[in-house]
Amino acid sequence: MKSIFVTGGAGFIGSHTCLLLLEKGFTLFLLDLFVTSSQKSLKRVSLILRKKGIDIKGKIYLVEGDIKNKYDIERVFKMSFELNKIIESVIHFAGLKSVAESVKNPGLYWENNVNGTINLLKVMEKYNCKNIVFSSSATVYKAKSNAPLFENDICEPVNPYGNTKLTIERLLKDIYNSDPSKWRIASLRYFNPVGAHESGLLGEDTLGKPNNIYPLITQVAIGKIKEIKIFGSDWPTIDGTGIRDYIHIMDLAEGHFSALNYLLKEKPQFLTLNLGTGIGTSVLELIRCFEKVNNVEIPYSFDNRRVGDNAFVMADNSLAKKILNWIPKRNIEDICRDGWNWQLKNPNGY
Ligand code: WQD
Repeated sequence: MKSIFVTGGAGFIGSHTCLLLLEKGFTLFLLDLFVTSSQKSLKRVSLILRKKGIDIKGKIYLVEGDIKNKYDIERVFKMSFELNKIIESVIHFAGLKSVAESVKNPGLYWENNVNGTINLLKVMEKYNCKNIVFSSSATVYKAKSNAPLFENDICEPVNPYGNTKLTIERLLKDIYNSDPSKWRIASLRYFNPVGAHESGLLGEDTLGKPNNIYPLITQVAIGKIKEIKIFGSDWPTIDGTGIRDYIHIMDLAEGHFSALNYLLKEKPQFLTLNLGTGIGTSVLELIRCFEKVNNVEIPYSFDNRRVGDNAFVMADNSLAKKILNWIPKRNIEDICRDGWNWQLKNPNGY
């Protein structure tokens, strides 16, 4: 079976995707710096698979390192050659992802996200590995007031994090154009990844106070945080609160598996795909759903709008459905149930 190099494989999206890829029989080589992730996520991956009777001995190899250091990346490829388990493709999750932090420290984000990816691509070329699935984001788009976003819509990020993601997409396009007969590239634009694996053993460990609404809700529910501050009650939406496209983390993981399989079996090409549900949920609707599904109370109060926020962000996912035959299977109730199950079992994260 093919060997896949997963950068950032211990992170929230990375660990859930690695779980699925191991279940499907892939051999994985991981590179992670463990600054925004925990090695425990990988121990949980192996525990979940052991419970399913899947032995991952000889199927997962971990290098603790930094994508900003080319030699760390090269160590992974060298290991795969020494083991004669040559890396066929890369799934590139590693990167900093806080919009707020990127505004305060844009240099850190450009150095880590963009330079790190340049390093990765250089080493991939050196080892003649020309298949990559890239973790992009809906923050590359120019927001639309009340309509779904399509892949060919205008891209105009409003924060440094989104600028790094769009820059990397443009770099990948240039790389593809430099050798279109060899490169297979999929740039996956995530909307709002939330929830947890249904076992409750794998989930989003925010390593401190979260910025995003969903982990804030689960931490209010468990009593770690007093209440939710809802940023704005006067947005032009059904109930005045912001609307987003929340996608279950396992649907997102399945989207990566589908994209990887597609690239491995189809001709060289450059793909840009939205991974969202095409369903918009307001903050109040999310809170009320969480309360109902889990029989808990989520105290909240209204606050001013957050700088850089938009009223409405939702995907059109018809291209991913058509090309990858990928359809999100889980709904907002599944998200609320699975995320609460993780938080209850892991009140302080891993
Ligand atoms: C969701 C809604 C807020 C916090 C971000 C990144 C994006 C992606 C997903 C990586 C909005 C409201 C939030 C709070 C609130 N990550 N909110 N009170 O901003 O849609 O997207 O995460 O790719 O890049 O930008 O997610 O969870 O922060 O906000 O009312 O304390 O919740 O206004 O309407 P966002 P979010």
